[in-house]
Amino acid sequence: MAGFPADDGDPVDVLRELLGAAGARPLTEPPLWPSDVADDATPVEFSVAFDESGDRAVRILGETIPQNPGHAANIHAAKRFLTHMAQRFDLRLDRFQAVEDLFLTERPQGKFALWFSVILRPGRAPALKVYFNPQVRGEHAAPGLVAEGLRRLGLSDAYETVTEHALLRGAADRFSFFALDLDDGPLSRVKLYISHDSAESGTVERAAGAVAGVNPLLVREFLTAAGGGTGPYAGRPLISSYSFVEADAGRPGNYSLYLPIRDYVPDDAAARERVLAHFARAGLPAAELDRAIAAVTDRPMAAGVGLIAHVSLRLGRFGTGTTVYLSSEAYAVAAPRTRVGAAASL
Ligand code: TRP
Repeated sequence: MAGFPADDGDPVDVLRELLGAAGARPLTEPPLWPSDVADDATPVEFSVAFDESGDRAVRILGETIPQNPGHAANIHAAKRFLTHMAQRFDLRLDRFQAVEDLFLTERPQGKFALWFSVILRPGRAPALKVYFNPQVRGEHAAPGLVAEGLRRLGLSDAYETVTEHALLRGAADRFSFFALDLDDGPLSRVKLYISHDSAESGTVERAAGAVAGVNPLLVREFLTAAGGGTGPYAGRPLISSYSFVEADAGRPGNYSLYLPIRDYVPDDAAARERVLAHFARAGLPAAELDRAIAAVTDRPMAAGVGLIAHVSLRLGRFGTGTTVYLSSEAYAVAAPRTRVGAAASL
């Protein structure tokens, strides 16, 4: 898929290690741990990033699950995976080490403590991204953790930029992920994600406006095509993210909007149509979406909902593009809905 040579064993090895004991477990047995990576508790989700430039990347979001899972055991297994990857590939762990004591606690709250994404591009070594959970010490601690994390990474000004544009609706807007690229390039990023409960297009247009040169109208057009309208999005929340590189002194270089499309369609046939409507506007080839779908499933699109879990729009100077997130549905396929209500949720 996506031009990978058949003899490149790295991606398969890395995926096996990423999943830990969960990767070796027969699918006939129940999941070892209720991972929130995907709706059916599979600790893995695929995505394909389509860049306007023609670049493509396949990514795997995953949670490492040890044989005897538990909050602390999962964190230890994840860190073992990371140490091993750092020995094998050229990873930069200084930024991880600068903030890990903030986000890793023996008694984490919320839905996860540490996730990874493995980014695969043909002909290149896998790149790794790590996700921390700002809610890990409870809702009230999240702003402080994020502010301190940014400060330690030399991005103090970023906090104000983000709160002024994306955290304007009280408890309805909250920090959901704090992510780091672990490669050593000049564009190695810190990424901050904010979820917006019951948002309308205006909420995320304002959020996109934090990034110089980004046209918020593109956000509205994306939601109209892929989401079916301007909201409110009262099912799973829309999510904003900002990318920062150290050199930019707290000014975000990119904005992304994530639409959990599965909550806003009756089935995957409808989700595919919506994504294709956006692809047509963005000049992306429909056949590439179908190729990605065919790589993960052969079930009829109308037979379930949630295969296409999210679709995101990325805008800014580190590249413009669209990413489609595909569930493995390894444990379960969610039944199609007959009616999509405003608060539709699985
Ligand atoms: N499953 C979770 C959710 O839907 C986390 C998640 C997985 C996620 N992939 C994502 C969130 C892509 C945003 C974008 O919220």
